[in-house]
Amino acid sequence: MLEARIELPTVSLPEVRRQAGVELRKARLSDVDAIYWLIRYWAEKGLMLVRSHSHLYENIRDFQVLEDEDGQIVGTVALHVLWRDLAEIRGLAVHPNRQGEGLGRWLVLGAEREARDLGLPRVFAWTLQVGFFRSLGYQVTTREALPPKVWSECNACPFYENCREIAVIKHLSPGAFGG
Ligand SMILES: CC(C)(COP(=O)(O)OP(=O)(O)OC[C@H]1O[C@@H](n2cnc3c(N)ncnc32)[C@H](O)[C@@H]1OP(=O)(O)O)[C@@H](O)C(=O)NCCC(=O)NCCS
Repeated sequence: MLEARIELPTVSLPEVRRQAGVELRKARLSDVDAIYWLIRYWAEKGLMLVRSHSHLYENIRDFQVLEDEDGQIVGTVALHVLWRDLAEIRGLAVHPNRQGEGLGRWLVLGAEREARDLGLPRVFAWTLQVGFFRSLGYQVTTREALPPKVWSECNACPFYENCREIAVIKHLSPGAFGG
């Protein structure tokens, strides 16, 4: 049987300068296109779940972005509250030309700061980048140790049957930025 396949054009991101100064700030609606393409770039490589424009507009208040001094969005992260004591770090992406400069760490610490400000005692993420999260104090946990709420997006995930993602969690010490 013939299988219908739709070939999507490969994502090409704007050129950015390594080491250019960056600012971490809350996302604005005008950032949605840049966030969309950055996430889609990594989603096509199988590292992230693609996010629609609709999802990004509806959840824009969850997002923070890193904007460089040339006005380019070079990183993004979202903190999505799931319950009174738990939030998920989602949509974490760094521009491929800016990896390894500490921007991913900065984004996660930014999401953790928001979590602390909200009074959340713990944050978790689904990820394939376990080493990265471990370096930030996260521990691998079992799916069963997390409340059913964390499965909220699994039904819509194309990898539902073959999920490779690992759950990592961090207990936040109140007031300690990065701790
Ligand atoms: C994963 C990602 C966010 C990391 O961001 P980054 O800016 O490249 O990482 P940083 O420079 O902040 O690295 C922080 C630390 O993590 C380590 N690290 C980074 N990526 C790592 C990896 N894949 N495995 C193990 N350690 C890693 C770094 O060596 C560094 O450790 P150090 O402080 O001891 O030197 C980024 O590479 C990315 O966007 N990847 C593709 C999309 C993706 O997988 N997103 C995560 C979805 S949950």
